[in-house]
Amino acid sequence: MSKAQTISTTASDPTVAAAAAQFLSPVVLGLQALTVNGKQAHWHVRGANFIGVHELLDTVVAHAGDFADTAAERIVALGLPIDARLSTVADKVAASSVPAGFTQSTELIRNIVADIDAILVDTKAAIDGLDEIDLTSQDVAIEIMRGLEKDRWFLVAHVAE
Ligand SMILES: [Fe+2]
Repeated sequence: MSKAQTISTTASDPTVAAAAAQFLSPVVLGLQALTVNGKQAHWHVRGANFIGVHELLDTVVAHAGDFADTAAERIVALGLPIDARLSTVADKVAASSVPAGFTQSTELIRNIVADIDAILVDTKAAIDGLDEIDLTSQDVAIEIMRGLEKDRWFLVAHVAE
């Protein structure tokens, strides 16, 4: 006969969960903003290398969504919620460098790279901040930094001299 067992919601220590939420939440919000603003750029790019930039921006958007999902689910796996509602994203993430309207590809690439660089600042802060607290959450931030830096390279290669 089996006895009912009480299982804890997560395997984590509350301090670890709080630190993961503190450092990964800004990364999630920035990435969610990138999925929206990257689509804006995808739709309005004009000029040189149109098709390549148009398609690359969709790849950047897809990666941003995947990265956001990985970081958000790390927080939730540790037992805490994340507020990534669109109103919260709009409130907490700095305005995008992507302008409204049709924009030349070279300018738009610089704008998206500026948005990525803002996320990289938060990602680096997460890597540093989680170093002594939770290596598993830090690994999530490292994976995101590696991926964002690769996408940044693919974008910058279009405009680098
Ligand atoms: Fe599309």
